[in-house]
Amino acid sequence: MNVKEPLIGVAFNAYEAIVGKREEQISETSVQQAAQDVSRAIEQAGYPVISLPMKGGIEEFAQQVRSTNASMLVNLCESYKGIPQKEFNVAAFFEMMDWPYSGNKAFTLALCQQKYLTKTLLQAHGLPCAPGFLAPGMSRPDGMAFPMIVKPNAEDASLGIYGHSVVHDQGALEKQVAEVLHTYHQPALVEAFISGREFNVAVYDAENGPLALPVSEIDFSNLPADVPHILGYEAKWFEDHALYQATMPKCPAPISDELRIRLQSLAVAAFKAVDGRDYARVDFRVSEKGEIFILEVNPNPDISLNAGFARALAAAQIEYVDFWQRMIENTLARKESR
Ligand SMILES: Nc1ncnc2c1ncn2[C@@H]1O[C@H](COP(=O)(O)OP(=O)(O)O)[C@@H](O)[C@H]1O
Ligand SMILES: [Mg+2]
Repeated sequence: MNVKEPLIGVAFNAYEAIVGKREEQISETSVQQAAQDVSRAIEQAGYPVISLPMKGGIEEFAQQVRSTNASMLVNLCESYKGIPQKEFNVAAFFEMMDWPYSGNKAFTLALCQQKYLTKTLLQAHGLPCAPGFLAPGMSRPDGMAFPMIVKPNAEDASLGIYGHSVVHDQGALEKQVAEVLHTYHQPALVEAFISGREFNVAVYDAENGPLALPVSEIDFSNLPADVPHILGYEAKWFEDHALYQATMPKCPAPISDELRIRLQSLAVAAFKAVDGRDYARVDFRVSEKGEIFILEVNPNPDISLNAGFARALAAAQIEYVDFWQRMIENTLARKESR
């Protein structure tokens, strides 16, 4: 191992995705784009870099890592053998192998995959979340009224979130819960639908601790009024879909300094509450009355150059290359402190 020139391995999943619906594969393949962008940035930062696609099983991957003698890994893996729920197992394996890696710990990846569990933790930290419950299994909290949104409890990338996920009566609610159970084989998280604006805030571990980047807003103003204003699957992934074009992110968001500061400080607090490490993105809705709700913490957000995280770095005038330099330094410092 060469200490002056540590070899950085960029680990990413290169599987055929196995997801609930055939058309929901694009979100699983975007990780390859991220791997390319990150590798290029690391090269530009002056480090030798090796691409480590995870295609077969974990033993095969371990062979690759051993034979290259990489000093650390950049972990971009979002699934194992096409199963997103095993994203955290990959990070846990790196930990057991004593391989330093950038990005969130297995614990945080596992926690944040469970949206309901994360919500209860954030609430225990005094952070505001939309009222919700798991179905089937739990009863609706007192006072929680329609409309509601029904989403798979343990997916991300808007898998399973469509216009009809927003429900206005008990019949539609039960139908959607059954649909989530049938398609995704997991309980549904039913939440109060927060009508209003949507923001997200990228956070990363800078030199002096977690730093919130400029706030992004999903601009719904071009959506017709009769379509639910949500960032559903088509809106997030299909570039030529009308919903994609009508839900473009704006960063920095056109908001008051007061709202910006509140969102940024809540994002840092949420990052700390989930024991975040290196980087994450926190999603918010702000109701028409101005109440802020945290929707979720994304501990493994799309980190490619054309995605929201990089856009937020650019809005803060932080070079993508410098961000990766920081992630490498963070990881190597953890390695030394062990
Ligand atoms: N409680 C809610 N109220 C209003 N919109 C919501 C709510 N929960 C989710 N959404 C919409 O659905 C999208 C995806 O939900 P989210 O919880 O962030 O899951 P994912 O992990 O798939 O991104 C959000 O970006 C938002 O547009
Ligand atoms: Mg989200």
